[in-house]
Amino acid sequence: TVGNSTNIKWHCCSVGKLDREGLLNQKGCVIWITGLSGSGKSTLACALSRELHSRGKLTYVLDGDNVRHGLNSDLTFKPEDRAENIRRIGEVAKLFSDAGIICIASLISPYRKDRAACRALLPEGDFIEVFLDVPIHVCEQRDPKGLYKLARAGKIRGFTGIDDAYEPPVSCEIVLKEEGREATPPRELAEQVISYLYEKGYLH
Ligand code: PPS
Repeated sequence: TVGNSTNIKWHCCSVGKLDREGLLNQKGCVIWITGLSGSGKSTLACALSRELHSRGKLTYVLDGDNVRHGLNSDLTFKPEDRAENIRRIGEVAKLFSDAGIICIASLISPYRKDRAACRALLPEGDFIEVFLDVPIHVCEQRDPKGLYKLARAGKIRGFTGIDDAYEPPVSCEIVLKEEGREATPPRELAEQVISYLYEKGYLH
């Protein structure tokens, strides 16, 4: 039995991940960007995708907000729905990386155990967790969508960092720390991630 299904069997195909990676001349992996609302996850994801694309690498961005428009449009922000949002994006990211693509997932993914479950779906080393570490007061000052204001006014309940938890990674591959109000140019942050990818042999 797999999940809730019985009588299903895994079917193997003679074309595998390595074959696809050979065709693309790259290594498929998942770059998982976690952080508070307003920390700049989507901006970093796009900058990273742009920089890799210009180096001839095939990427695909799975952004929490965007996936919630389609596949995850049935989910709210209560903890069990966030967990399901993260689980589904983790499964989709796994398929993309198995296709040989560099998949960039950008979603708050506030709970440690859900991120750990996504990591566990992938071969060792293929899940690269990036913590965009921006203090909440900075995110709140930025408030690009006006959501912190609404949350403080009690008009949004269960907002991450206000009245719902954000559990920062205890150990992750990359921490991008921003202290001041001036945001680091996204390209610079993307370059830090790209340096890591070269160092670890994901890019050559
Ligand atoms: S999660 O926690 O991973 O399921 O969230 P995610 O899919 O990344 O969606 C986060 C975006 O949804 C908006 N939003 C909220 N965020 C946090 N808490 C609550 N209650 C909430 N309600 C709506 C918000 O625009 C988030 O976008 P980002 O890009 O993170 O600012």
